[in-house]
Amino acid sequence: MKKRALVTGITGQDGAYLSQFLLSKGYDVFGVIRRSSHRGVEDHRLRWLGVADRVTLLDGDLGDASSLVRIVKETRPDEVYNLAAQSFVASSWRQPVLTANITGVGVTNMLEAVRAEAPEARFYQASSSEMFGLIQEERQSEKTPFYPRSPYAVAKLYGHWITVNYRESFGLHASSGILFNHESPLRGIEFVTRKVTDGVARIKLGMAKELRLGNIDAKRDWGHARDYVQAMWLMLQQDKPDDYVVATGVTTTVRDMCRIAFAHVGLDMDKHVVIDPAFYRPAEVDVLLGDPSKAHAKLGWKATTTLDEMIREMVDADLARLKA
Ligand code: NAP
Ligand code: GDD
Repeated sequence: MKKRALVTGITGQDGAYLSQFLLSKGYDVFGVIRRSSHRGVEDHRLRWLGVADRVTLLDGDLGDASSLVRIVKETRPDEVYNLAAQSFVASSWRQPVLTANITGVGVTNMLEAVRAEAPEARFYQASSSEMFGLIQEERQSEKTPFYPRSPYAVAKLYGHWITVNYRESFGLHASSGILFNHESPLRGIEFVTRKVTDGVARIKLGMAKELRLGNIDAKRDWGHARDYVQAMWLMLQQDKPDDYVVATGVTTTVRDMCRIAFAHVGLDMDKHVVIDPAFYRPAEVDVLLGDPSKAHAKLGWKATTTLDEMIREMVDADLARLKA
């Protein structure tokens, strides 16, 4: 019997890579897609990876509990990956209630649907290193206390603890992956790595002269989404549900990430980057650095792509996209 996986957020970066990975493992893949007036473009990432025709998409919304109950009932999944969220930190100050409803309470909607219709299914929650926020330890592990610094991080913290609570209250096989930043050519254009690689490609091709950024002294632990979706799957293959930090264990400033991207096409970032206070945040997460030793020891997982390799892959993909 083929295994069945249900993925919320299937049209996002991680949803696309996870679908490709699950299909390669022989799964039937189902995904939740929200209604849009631009039907036909929402699956662009799945098309980019060549898997759009191999997944089944069902109409639903994380804010509409009844749609989730119906979808879980119809698809009878063995594994549920809850990736859907309002995922952009900067937007969460502009849409705090929506962020709370979808990124936070939406997790309960999904857990309730699973509890009612597929209590044996294994559940993955997309938790985030943003929950560490104002860091309480230099390297953040599963034991590090949380200190969220944005409405997004507060909502994710709720999603994280409700997942733990449903595991402890109802015996669900529910795991939470505390993933540090992960990127790819399929990253949304508003996130800093993709904004930089797209900007560098535009400058190289003579389509732009400058790139406006906010706090380039912030540090992140960046990995590749292709590597990170494998950790999600590995968590659901364990006998016991648990929580895991997924990270590279290396942290880099936005400035140095930027320098890699400009250098790749032979440009000097100092001639093109303009600091624009419009991109500063009301409260910043200055530095994130993960300790992935538990994921390594228990899941046998390790990041395989360096930041350098990933940024060069992203710049090349943006150059190709813009030339086309
Ligand atoms: P993403 O590219 O922004 O994708 C978000 C997905 O959620 C999209 O498919 C989006 O659908 C969907 N979505 C948003 N609101 C929804 C709603 N109300 N109902 C149903 N679906 C909805 O994010 P990502 O980078 O793939 O991240 C996946 C998950 O991991 C997110 O929960 C994110 O917060 C979390 N996370 C990400 C990172 C990272 O560095 N990438 C790190 C830690 C945790 P549309 O396509 O229609 O917008
Ligand atoms: N987006 C953006 N745009 N960020 C900028 C800019 C800019 O112009 N200039 C500087 N930055 C800084 C931000 O202030 C932040 O410190 C850092 O670059 C990374 O910003 P993002 O790429 O937007 O990601 P994030 O770290 O806020 O959030 C991402 O990672 C989280 C995991 O730690 C998102 O994917 C979240 O969904 C995820 O949970």
